[in-house]
Amino acid sequence: MEVLKSKKVLQDFIERQKEMGKKIGFAPTMGALHDGHLSLYKMAKEENDLVVSSIFVNPTQFNNPDDLKKYPRDINRDISILEKSGLVDAVYIPEVTDIYPEKTESRNYDFGGLENEMEGKSRPGHFDGVGTVVEELFNQVKPDNAYFGEKDFQQLAIIKKMTENKKLLINIKGVPVYRAENGLALSSRNQRLQEDRREASKVIFETLKKVNDWFRVVTIPEIKARVQDIFDQQRGMQLEYFLIADEETLRETDFFYKDRNFRAFIVVMVDGVRLIDNMHLD
Ligand code: PAF
Repeated sequence: MEVLKSKKVLQDFIERQKEMGKKIGFAPTMGALHDGHLSLYKMAKEENDLVVSSIFVNPTQFNNPDDLKKYPRDINRDISILEKSGLVDAVYIPEVTDIYPEKTESRNYDFGGLENEMEGKSRPGHFDGVGTVVEELFNQVKPDNAYFGEKDFQQLAIIKKMTENKKLLINIKGVPVYRAENGLALSSRNQRLQEDRREASKVIFETLKKVNDWFRVVTIPEIKARVQDIFDQQRGMQLEYFLIADEETLRETDFFYKDRNFRAFIVVMVDGVRLIDNMHLD
């Protein structure tokens, strides 16, 4: 596996691959790699000639400086996971100046209102930071296909929107949420949970499955009350939000309309760690 540590080295590498007519699949990450990331690479490997990943903890998407400071970083561990996986041909590890040559700040984007829902309300400026880094990485890596986890469903929708608005010739692919055996969605943040809290957090997935059973049977306000009840009974957990939204507009709904797709979204604080999950309702 090639380890590309600057924009110049990356660009030379990409140029060579393009000359050989290789189809490039790209999965950007912020490191702290886990099996969820490997599921992105697996899909990328099946669909492309070459898989490129990146590891860059993007400062502009953290609205909370403490979160940025605490973000787990262990580049040697990550490189060894990538090597062992045999799924990735090259990893790009840029310097901050490779992504932000002048000021380390975000551009402002119009994501058609998607940015104002859910995470956009709780984390102001977050999606401008994501848009900025992903657009820059796309310009540098020039992938044919790019892979993002459905765990961050709103991020995936926003990146699709940006790609469409900027008329980039990149297919954006969503990869289903990858779960631990107990159902907890894998996330780099899970590392910050004690083992017993990780086990207790399976209640998040169990709740989403119950919501799916109640879908179109119970009213949405009643579903919300039941979910609140479940989390009121959990020690050390606070429900930050639970809502059901239209899958395309991401707008919260209080009614199930015919011929629309809906998804349940949930954020729970477990011992100060913010866990996020979602499920398509069918
Ligand atoms: O999902 C992530 O890990 C990040 O938001 C991304 C897409 C790598 C941009 O920094």
